[in-house]
Amino acid sequence: MLSVLSIASEAFPLVKTGGLADVAGALPLALTREGVEMRTLLPGYPAVMSKLEAAETVHAYPALMGGPAQVLAGRAGGLDLFVLDAPHLYQRPGNIYLGPDGRDWPDNSFRFAALARAGADLAKRIAADVVHAHDWQGALAPVYLHYDGGTRPGTVLTLHNMAFQGHYYGDLLSALGLPAEAMAIEGVEYFGGIGFLKGGILFADKVTTVSPTYAREILTPEFGMALDGLLRTRAADVEGIVNGIDDEIWNPETDATLAKTYSASRLDDRVANRAACQARFGLSPSPEAPLFGVVSRLTSQKGLDLLLACMPGLVARGGQLALLGAGEPSLEQGFRALAAAYPDQVGCVIGYDETLAHRIQAGVDFLVVPSRFEPCGLTQLCALRYGAAPLVARVGGLADTVIDANEAALTAGVATGLQFHPPEIGALDHAISRAFDLCRDPMVMRRLRLNGMRADVSWRTPAKRYAALYQKLRMVS
Ligand code: ADP
Ligand code: GLC
Repeated sequence: MLSVLSIASEAFPLVKTGGLADVAGALPLALTREGVEMRTLLPGYPAVMSKLEAAETVHAYPALMGGPAQVLAGRAGGLDLFVLDAPHLYQRPGNIYLGPDGRDWPDNSFRFAALARAGADLAKRIAADVVHAHDWQGALAPVYLHYDGGTRPGTVLTLHNMAFQGHYYGDLLSALGLPAEAMAIEGVEYFGGIGFLKGGILFADKVTTVSPTYAREILTPEFGMALDGLLRTRAADVEGIVNGIDDEIWNPETDATLAKTYSASRLDDRVANRAACQARFGLSPSPEAPLFGVVSRLTSQKGLDLLLACMPGLVARGGQLALLGAGEPSLEQGFRALAAAYPDQVGCVIGYDETLAHRIQAGVDFLVVPSRFEPCGLTQLCALRYGAAPLVARVGGLADTVIDANEAALTAGVATGLQFHPPEIGALDHAISRAFDLCRDPMVMRRLRLNGMRADVSWRTPAKRYAALYQKLRMVS
């Protein structure tokens, strides 16, 4: 059996700030069907340590980045885990990345270098065939394995979010356990400092990202976030594999959080969830008003400032919005003010709420995702599965997972949602007016919903692709 060590900074259901957690949490199970045994190394945050069962020490470090640490093996949240128990790095309350002042923990360089260092050591100790590191937090693992020399497993780095790159002062080099020679263009040197993600991209055998379109986009200056030049030199080894979602957790037929369960063959039962969603957000109980939804981090990536600008038009046309999200204060404030101004038509819940996310997906007509860039996006996949038509910007994974209701797609009966481009106010406004047009024809909307619900958004196909990739790496390593 192929053995893979995944190195991630979050995994659902233990710790989650975004889609990375969903991916890291779901991929191992999906891979077992492909004959791959994936185990995951996570930091020993309080939320992980408190749930860890039957833990055994695999290795102890007298000192790892400033304090004693040990790698434990055990189970938590249904996952087979290795946990880096390092109280000086992870035993602290609150957000896993940010301190109480809302800024990165000042020692994040050490916190995630330690994770990567422990992962690189562990991979050899357990004779893993492949190390699969995620984002900047895991990115030094291929770097350490490179400089350690000797026999090593194959390495994959997956880019989920290049907006975060792990960029630190160069004088940390030796404290991070990197050799002097690493401070070079052909090493971790990045704009005069140390770039974790830069180093990972350079030294991983394969670099993947989470959709084919984003894999192409990041080779351009517009989307490459200053790493496009380096990525172009690695273009032959860059691949996009679309994410799946856990179709057990996201299953409208069995979802106990819903007002009424439903399926493609019992689509009329979905109406009860629409009414429940309107009631939850204090919206008028109109069966006709097109109901738009948002479940998102509120950051500039997600383009919700564009939606905010389009809201007066949406409201004037008689539409409604149910929004769940948290993030930048200006966006939180903007949507709150809108809900106060139009209480019958706009409702917002500022916060993070998994249950409410399910209820929105089950209730709304359209799920809006106006992202400026989107490596994959999971919420539009949940929307498809729950019969809400995604209304999305045509970028990254949104371009790869939604079929726009243009004339050809409608005639062929294959449309699943609406796309717009570029991610700007005018184009979004136009897409919203197209959504109103679609709502005038219940048969078309029904077709759209059914197509989405029948689309395969599971991990089955992506897991096969990852398994094939690991297989190739085992052969070269
Ligand atoms: P990203 O990882 O960039 O935030 P994704 O769409 O890939 O975007 O994943 C976001 C995940 O987080 C999805 O599972 C989504 O349902 C969930 N999510 C985002 N915001 C919230 C929220 N406020 N409440 C509940 N779930 C949320
Ligand atoms: C990131 C991206 C998102 C992607 C997720 C999981 O957070 O922003 O598009 O779906 O990672 O890969």
